Amino acid sequence: MNNAVAGFSKLSKEEKINWIAKEYFSTPTEAIALLKNYWNTDEKIQNLHDEFIENTITNFYIPLGVAPNFLINGKYSTIPMAIEESSVVAAASKAAKFWSTRGGFKASIINTEKNGQVHFIYKGDVSKLALFFAQTKATFFSETESITKNMQKRGGGILDIALNDKTNLLENYYQLHATFETKDSMGANFINSCLEQFAKTLKNEALQYDLFTDAEKDIQVVMSILSNYVPNCIVRAEVSCPVADLKEKQIENPLDFAERFVQAVQIAEVEPYRAVTHNKGIMNGIDAVVLATGNDFRAVEAGIHAYAAKSGQYSSLSHAKVENGIFSFWLEIPLALGTVGGLTSLHPLVKLSLEMLEKPTAQELMQFVAVAGLAQNFAALRSLTTTGIQDGHMKMHLNNILNQFDATDTERITVRAHFKQNAITHSAVVALIEQIRQ
Ligand code: MEV
Repeated sequence: MNNAVAGFSKLSKEEKINWIAKEYFSTPTEAIALLKNYWNTDEKIQNLHDEFIENTITNFYIPLGVAPNFLINGKYSTIPMAIEESSVVAAASKAAKFWSTRGGFKASIINTEKNGQVHFIYKGDVSKLALFFAQTKATFFSETESITKNMQKRGGGILDIALNDKTNLLENYYQLHATFETKDSMGANFINSCLEQFAKTLKNEALQYDLFTDAEKDIQVVMSILSNYVPNCIVRAEVSCPVADLKEKQIENPLDFAERFVQAVQIAEVEPYRAVTHNKGIMNGIDAVVLATGNDFRAVEAGIHAYAAKSGQYSSLSHAKVENGIFSFWLEIPLALGTVGGLTSLHPLVKLSLEMLEKPTAQELMQFVAVAGLAQNFAALRSLTTTGIQDGHMKMHLNNILNQFDATDTERITVRAHFKQNAITHSAVVALIEQIRQ
């Protein structure tokens, strides 16, 4: 039976580790050694990471890989990707190379509006609330001036505030729905600060509003928070080429390939079981770049999946067609990203990733991320509709099994040679390693 602990957060890092090791591990010394083995030898870097979150005990590594040869809007880039899943970086690189000789990727920003809401309860006459809001709207702007000053200097700020009647969904539920432009920052802090000020203004102004009865003056703010659903912050990425140009080693009949590819996308458009996996493949590329560049991948995930379900049914984020002999493949996704603020200037590898991308603006980063998602989706669908996914996956998996067994160089050569001719399965690889070692 494990014990509860009081004041854990106040313990030093050493004390936390000692407590955990003693409490949960049969070999505490080994657990402590492993945790410490992952500490950075540079104390400054370690302290920095310790302070990103609370109760840090060590670092959790995820590989940072790169996918070169991405031709985007006529310019080559190498895209940094932080991800633990094998095959993803290889697939992105392969798709990048494929499209670099077929016109490259085109990416564009459709819009960049963020939003947030003050959710509140008002028990009274709707028309009086609407009149109150119209008469006090300017105050919401003036009372947030100290928060918006800097953002305005950078060309951003509050775009608009609207009063929404949501009483058809929930009794007495209304909201202030505010829209924002946050330029190169993701904007979470800025938006939340504005919203919390709106909430104060709302309550204060209501108390002083003569047309309200006492009950109407008593507005109850439930919460004020940005929304990670950003359907008006959209980036588009696309590729296209004449169908005949799709020909290469694995694509002997390009028209047949293009048609099958379009069918695969159409299946994801109409069938949620497939759409989820299809979009998961897109997220392999998106999350990896979002993470490498220090952005909030949970926010991106939540927002994108909500967007995928905007019609009421979860569907494919990407689309494809063959028209007049031209194959086109594209996606449009919502992305709220930042290239300033947050981790971007704190995490040394995030800074490095952003420098590798030539210090992009938030809009440029949106384009890189969307392209990585499309490339990943192309690579997955290409494998699925030709050789099948396991072929490439198992080759990478083979590496992981060899690492698991600490295979020597000679063992690796023998195993790889054997599986050039034979199907790779986990048990077959293990059996061969054991046979070699006997
Ligand atoms: C695996 O991580 C992603 C795929 O399943 C995506 C897809 O099926 O399109 C290969």
